Amino acid sequence: MTSPDNHRCTTTFKLNNGTSIPAIGLGTWKARDEESYESVIHALKSGYRHIDTAAAYANEAPVGKAIKDSGIPRSEVYVTTKLWCTRHNEPVKALKESLEKLGLKYVDLYLMHWPVPLNPQSGEKFPMLPNGKRDIVFDWSFVKTFELMQECVKLGLAKSIGVSNFSIKNLKTLLAANLEIKPVANQVELHPQLPLLELADFCKQHQIVLEAYSPLGSDGAPVLKDETIIKLAAKYQVAPSVIVFSWLVARGICGLPKSINPSRIEQNLLVIDLAPEDVETINNIHKKKSIRYINPDWDPVDVFSEV
Ligand code: A2P
Repeated sequence: MTSPDNHRCTTTFKLNNGTSIPAIGLGTWKARDEESYESVIHALKSGYRHIDTAAAYANEAPVGKAIKDSGIPRSEVYVTTKLWCTRHNEPVKALKESLEKLGLKYVDLYLMHWPVPLNPQSGEKFPMLPNGKRDIVFDWSFVKTFELMQECVKLGLAKSIGVSNFSIKNLKTLLAANLEIKPVANQVELHPQLPLLELADFCKQHQIVLEAYSPLGSDGAPVLKDETIIKLAAKYQVAPSVIVFSWLVARGICGLPKSINPSRIEQNLLVIDLAPEDVETINNIHKKKSIRYINPDWDPVDVFSEV
């Protein structure tokens, strides 16, 4: 097994506005109060310098407290939070509320969580219509949302802005608008069973960094049981997670593993150099097994459709 110290990832990627983002960050989705506090503290002590949260995760307060209590200077930690769907009409107000909870003056990156505006009036996280469908605001567009998000940068509340769960089609719509500030990143579900090669090419062409959420396939880390990943782990004499994160970093993609377990948090920061043919082998896993693990129902909007 790779020893923790000599392969700890310190890689950063340059964003299109000149700032840099650490290649590996701690994901905090599904981490509750105490868990998120402890995992963020442990991650920062273990060498992580990138923490990813969201208003919708309801853990911004413990995440922010952990960042403060870690004693690491604010300028050395890259912090991302996200705009929830019911706040598309008021991102500045929503970000100010997130910053209040985080106890921070600014975030490094503010992402539009989904390209789907939900009814802001209901007070619910997922407002529903009587017919059981999500209460989507059809006379609002994510382009307007992003235009309003630009103000977050101008006011100094966010160093960068970006998107999440954007397909090529939706990115094309966004980039066709007359934006003053370009999205720097697109955070999507991405792992060896969902490598999103075309989306990655498109993003590279437009200088948008991809960030991989659920890089291990979410609950139970099913990607680590993939036979190709296990074979490569044996070849390199490392844990399967090392193969996954090394593959992401080799492709220029940020990995955001979620863990509340101290040794798994440490393990997920480890990377090695993979031979180009092994990167290619992993790129091809989806031809045998292609799975999207996170697929919320936004009916009638098909978020991931390319048509
Ligand atoms: P835990 O928080 O108990 O470690 P993803 O990042 O794809 O969303 O995966 C998160 C899931 O995988 C969580 O259930 C997490 O559980 C588990 N996990 C995270 N890192 C590892 C690892 N290195 N080995 C095994 N399971 C892991």
